[in-house]
Amino acid sequence: MEQIIRSNPVLLAVCGKGGVGKTSISAVAIRILAENADRRILAIDADPAVGLATALGFRGDRTVNDIRNDLIGRIEKGESENRQSLLGALDYEVLAALEERKNVAFLAIGRPEREGCYCKVNAMLRDIIESVARNFDYVVIDGEAGIEQVNRRVLSTVTHLLLVSDASSKGLKVIETIGSVAGQAVHYEKACLLLNRIRSAEEKNRLSLPPTMPLIGWIPEDDGIREADIAGRNLMEIAHCPAIEAVRAAITGFIDYK
Ligand SMILES: Nc1ncnc2c1ncn2[C@@H]1O[C@H](COP(=O)(O)OP(=O)(O)OP(=O)(O)O)[C@@H](O)[C@H]1O
Ligand SMILES: [Mg+2]
Repeated sequence: MEQIIRSNPVLLAVCGKGGVGKTSISAVAIRILAENADRRILAIDADPAVGLATALGFRGDRTVNDIRNDLIGRIEKGESENRQSLLGALDYEVLAALEERKNVAFLAIGRPEREGCYCKVNAMLRDIIESVARNFDYVVIDGEAGIEQVNRRVLSTVTHLLLVSDASSKGLKVIETIGSVAGQAVHYEKACLLLNRIRSAEEKNRLSLPPTMPLIGWIPEDDGIREADIAGRNLMEIAHCPAIEAVRAAITGFIDYK
């Protein structure tokens, strides 16, 4: 991939409790941003469980974890001595590993073989977000469930934090926790709550929402998303459905996109 340095990429991270719709919303946001062929978008699957690749129709077969293993192999063979040359190599390796389709590039963190390696791969992901993001206009990061990546400052350079919850009190509690941790650990410009799988406006009105987190919208429970899941179709190619329009309305109010 040729290197083009952008001035102010939007770095959008999608976070929340497990199963609330982070991957579906990330994929739909990417689909919407990709409608304009002039925008260059990087999709990052930061969840070791790897769901965004499927939701976007990418293979995701060379991951950050693979890149790390190769670099370690090269260090062990004495091919790379210092941190500086390692970081240079990292940028190069990441750009080479990106899977591209039209104006969307894809990268997954992958799943380390050993438990203890996960935080090292996360640290690498943080460096990647910081450096490789400058080649894109928009970076959309499908985060791991829960607060760990926020807590460990993997997402410290994110500019827009999109906190997703379903109607469950547990989901909303996780949002509150992420919001308070992010205040310290992320230098974001904006953080917002987006509700997902809501059955009606009446249901939305009954929820007790975190008082400090602005709500930017709610996405209905949508058979279009459900059916895509059942049929194993990716969300880039499914027919228009209400959830897609609700995500469009939400991100239009949230990030500055033209
Ligand atoms: N608005 C919606 N309407 C109907 N089904 C939805 C909607 N949003 C998400 N789903 C379904 O809910 C399930 C969980 O969604 P998704 O995988 O996007 O959540 P997640 O937060 O990424 O989960 P995980 O924490 O496991 O990564 C999927 O089967 C998805 O198809
Ligand atoms: Mg997911």
